[in-house]
Amino acid sequence: MHIQDKIQLIPGDLLDQQSLTSAVTQSDPDEIYNLAAQSFVATSWSQPVLTGEFTALGVTRMLEAVRQIKPKAKFYQASSSEMFGKVHETPQSETTPFHPRSPYGVGKVYGHWITINYRESYDMFAVSGILFNHESPRRGLEFVTRKISHNVAKIHLKLQDSFILGNLEAKRDWGFSGDYVEAMWMMLQQDKPDDYVIAMGENHSVKEFVKEAFKVIGVSSWEEHVKTSSEFMRPAEVDFLIGDATKAKEVLGWKPKVDFKTLVKMMVEEDISLLKKNSK
Ligand code: GDD
Repeated sequence: MHIQDKIQLIPGDLLDQQSLTSAVTQSDPDEIYNLAAQSFVATSWSQPVLTGEFTALGVTRMLEAVRQIKPKAKFYQASSSEMFGKVHETPQSETTPFHPRSPYGVGKVYGHWITINYRESYDMFAVSGILFNHESPRRGLEFVTRKISHNVAKIHLKLQDSFILGNLEAKRDWGFSGDYVEAMWMMLQQDKPDDYVIAMGENHSVKEFVKEAFKVIGVSSWEEHVKTSSEFMRPAEVDFLIGDATKAKEVLGWKPKVDFKTLVKMMVEEDISLLKKNSK
């Protein structure tokens, strides 16, 4: 059975307090995961105010709905490694200072602190998971990992010959979303609310991701197929992220199962089969 057939959707909008209050009333939840945001970093420069409304103030609206209707429910806020931005120490942990580099990152810092503030002000079980980049075949096409796997799959199927990226030197600590969602759930099963960094503890450049993706289709001359353009460069870049998830490993007992190479392979192979299915 497809996952969509197992869940019931209740409409809500982070810009509309009433819709959130009524969604919490209707669902009467024990656990709430706020994963909603304007989450594409590049768009946050062209829509900074809207990004702030969703990614920052939206968290307060959600917390208010929970506080008013179901204050005993456990609340998870999706904080982000983008809050570390221009990093102050390496690797980044729960105690590393924030220095966000985009309107998105700034909004996430607000969301992070308002979650902690509701925990401290109202004694709510509100936790914040500082997740480093997490990817899967379900990633949107605008994000770099899926953009690469999708285009490499197209090249493999001879549907195109090349594609265009931005900064190939940026480094990210990439993990598998399935592993990271398990960590979110684990955070809400604890006796006490607390904040955790979730990361693999190793990083790779965009270029390495590209190389690895081409390896999956048996191509070593990847440079012949990848161009770069300033169109995909950012006004302020986050150059280097690598997380320290020691606390999550020790306290939650969290252990990721999918490594970097397996993740890249999974994404390219899924895109190849998806394109084949869609061409039938
Ligand atoms: N999207 C994109 N497209 N990024 C590119 C490209 C391109 O063509 N070329 C190079 N990059 C570089 C970006 O400049 C950035 O340094 C890196 O690839 C990753 O970009 P994204 O995949 O867009 O992700 P992100 O790191 O900015 O943010 C993601 O991870 C955060 C941390 O978990 C998003 O999912 C955020 O919502 C999330 O908070």
